[in-house]
Amino acid sequence: MYKPAERIAQLKPYFFADLGKRIAALRAKGTDVVRLDIGSPDLPPPGFILEAMFESASQPDTHGYTLGQTQRYREAVAAYYRKRFDVQLDPKTEVVDLIGSKEGLFILSQVILNPGDVSLVPDPAYAVYAKGAEIAGGQPYAMPLLEKNAFLPDLEAIPSEVLKKAKILWLNYPNNPTGAIADFGFFERAVAFARKHELLLAHDNPYCDVGFNGYRAPSLLQVPGAKEVAIEFNSLSKTYNMAGWRLGMAVGQAQAVKFIDTYKSQQDSAIFAPFMAAAEAAMLGDQSWLAERNRVYQARRDAVVDALHRAGLRVTPPQAALYVWVPVPQGATSIDFCARMIAVSTTPGVVFGKHGEGYFRISLVTDVERLREGAERIAGWLQKQH
Ligand SMILES: Cc1ncc(COP(=O)(O)O)c(C=O)c1O
Repeated sequence: MYKPAERIAQLKPYFFADLGKRIAALRAKGTDVVRLDIGSPDLPPPGFILEAMFESASQPDTHGYTLGQTQRYREAVAAYYRKRFDVQLDPKTEVVDLIGSKEGLFILSQVILNPGDVSLVPDPAYAVYAKGAEIAGGQPYAMPLLEKNAFLPDLEAIPSEVLKKAKILWLNYPNNPTGAIADFGFFERAVAFARKHELLLAHDNPYCDVGFNGYRAPSLLQVPGAKEVAIEFNSLSKTYNMAGWRLGMAVGQAQAVKFIDTYKSQQDSAIFAPFMAAAEAAMLGDQSWLAERNRVYQARRDAVVDALHRAGLRVTPPQAALYVWVPVPQGATSIDFCARMIAVSTTPGVVFGKHGEGYFRISLVTDVERLREGAERIAGWLQKQH
């Protein structure tokens, strides 16, 4: 019998792929499970975005491959970055289209890391930064995100022998899973640090337009000179409620953009033209609906935080992103705690890395009534534990 590639043999399925199957099985047996685990927006994009897709799909010449024909999309990304962040990008050399940002996050490690190279990854974090490094033969080095440091990594604590082998430094603010935000001063320090240690700074920014009480996250590329050392990943998934459409981009450091583009051209055949037309309408069109959409998320956040506070749980209301990061009660592991709470599905913190242990994550992508019900089920479950 053949053996799989060594670098793949130990690979486990993506957590949420398995979880979806387990929940479907529970539901088939009649259990009513409130799903507060994955971060897939439940609201649709507005009509004008859908119309742009229909209009494009109704043309006879929009159904072929688009590889090498994504210039308009790249120009729309550059225009979006100019308008939203006042960041100037050359669409020819500093923008690449992605089939969702996840694709680019994975590819970056493949094009930058040689076996043995270190990738500095936050812990807890979106799994792809570390998994991409491992699959490339690199070594992820965990930078703990601790509550006492406002869930920012302590860059100065990274040992110099690790830094010597490091090539990529990953950041993600607004943050999944902690809901933390970074102030601009931190971004400035991170750019200076990357420059000093000759690292490629990779910032993952898909939650930049999900903010509460008027908070709007910056782009790391707003730091003067950042483009020389930094690449930013972004996405239409959360900003425009288009997660299933798979529309993303990487922008900034031209050499990294070029390598991603080249690698991609061997791996996939770019985005469906009508989806790009919808993306262009989303990025270039009216943005005013986002404020109302964010008020919906904010009401959900408040409902969850209120229910948990009433149950005596210590939680900090997040200012951005789609998650509430909640400490598990003393003595329980996050896996046990979440697994035993069958009527409501949340994500155990340890799924995001060792330093996620001691927490679980609640997503805000369910309507407010169902979320409140879920949070109250969690509260009731907690009371039974005492
Ligand atoms: C931090 C982070 N980065 C990237 C992604 C993936 O986004 P996309 O849908 O653009 O692949 C997610 C999705 O949940 C995320 O939480």
